[in-house]
Amino acid sequence: MTFTVRLLPENLEFTVEHGQTVLDAAIRQQIPFPYRCRVGACGMCLCKKLSGEVSYQLEPMLTEEEQSQGWIFSCQAYAQTHLVLTWDE
Ligand code: FES
Repeated sequence: MTFTVRLLPENLEFTVEHGQTVLDAAIRQQIPFPYRCRVGACGMCLCKKLSGEVSYQLEPMLTEEEQSQGWIFSCQAYAQTHLVLTWDE
């Protein structure tokens, strides 16, 4: 299963395969995505989900409020649907 991720405001698109994190998919497709640790610790890869669903193997260090605002850890998030993400607050 492959899903499309659209990144705003740049409007960049890349695909994410089943079993691949959003960050891994972006890096493989040379999308300029900020990251450092890739293990859910540094927060560099945090971005906001405008639409779609993600899942995690380990619950991310986000409060319920942050999750309800759409914040995701891209290095830990697996797409369950097509996604629209943004770095804009
Ligand atoms: S890259 Fe550090 S939390 Fe995702």
